[in-house]
Amino acid sequence: MNLLELKPITTQMLKAVVELDLLCFGGLWTLDGYEREIDSPNTDLLGLSFPGNPPLLVGMGCLWSIVDEAHITILAVHPRYQSQGFGQFILLTLLTSAQRRGLERASLEVRTSNKGAIALYQKFGFKTAGIRKRYYCDTGEDALILWRGGLQESEFIQNLKTWRQNVRSRIVTTTGYQLKVH
Ligand SMILES: CC(C)(COP(=O)(O)OP(=O)(O)OC[C@H]1O[C@@H](n2cnc3c(N)ncnc32)[C@H](O)[C@@H]1OP(=O)(O)O)[C@@H](O)C(=O)NCCC(=O)NCCS
Repeated sequence: MNLLELKPITTQMLKAVVELDLLCFGGLWTLDGYEREIDSPNTDLLGLSFPGNPPLLVGMGCLWSIVDEAHITILAVHPRYQSQGFGQFILLTLLTSAQRRGLERASLEVRTSNKGAIALYQKFGFKTAGIRKRYYCDTGEDALILWRGGLQESEFIQNLKTWRQNVRSRIVTTTGYQLKVH
């Protein structure tokens, strides 16, 4: 089990996807909801997994392509595998896909208390665009709206490549896993 694959999620992985969603978000989307994302041409739904039958899901990320914007709806890494660079790698792969789709900016909502995730996004140039008051119904917590422009600027494209290569090397060196992206 030393090969990790990052690739579009398939129906075979849906049960694991819902379990990871429950673990990381307390049940944000249903199985039907994820299934609809698989079928949508405007969605990138990626899973990081150890291959197998079924694959062992370690993390996932999702973006919606809306006009010229990439809206990041999901970023999650199984607690057992956090803090090893996987979250960054999934985020950077989503941003690469957004850039290749020709999108201009990325946006997302994050709980104001989620300092780790906010630090992750800030590291790659996300800035606060505003606050959605009492956005999360479970706790009534506010959401920060984060955005990152300039996805088509050559400096960003070069940086993205370098960041992704660096995170990839870090993962390979520290975990010993091989990392394959489809
Ligand atoms: C957010 C999440 C996806 C990050 O995944 P991860 O694999 O642990 O992230 P990484 O190991 O790639 O770390 C990313 C960076 O985030 C920052 N970070 C992570 N946790 C942090 C913390 N507790 N405090 C400060 N910075 C933190 C660091 O900058 C870190 O980079 P570094 O290791 O180079 O210092 C993961 O914690 C998760 O699934 N959380 C639950 C779901 C969630 O909140 N998703 C985000 C919704 S918007």
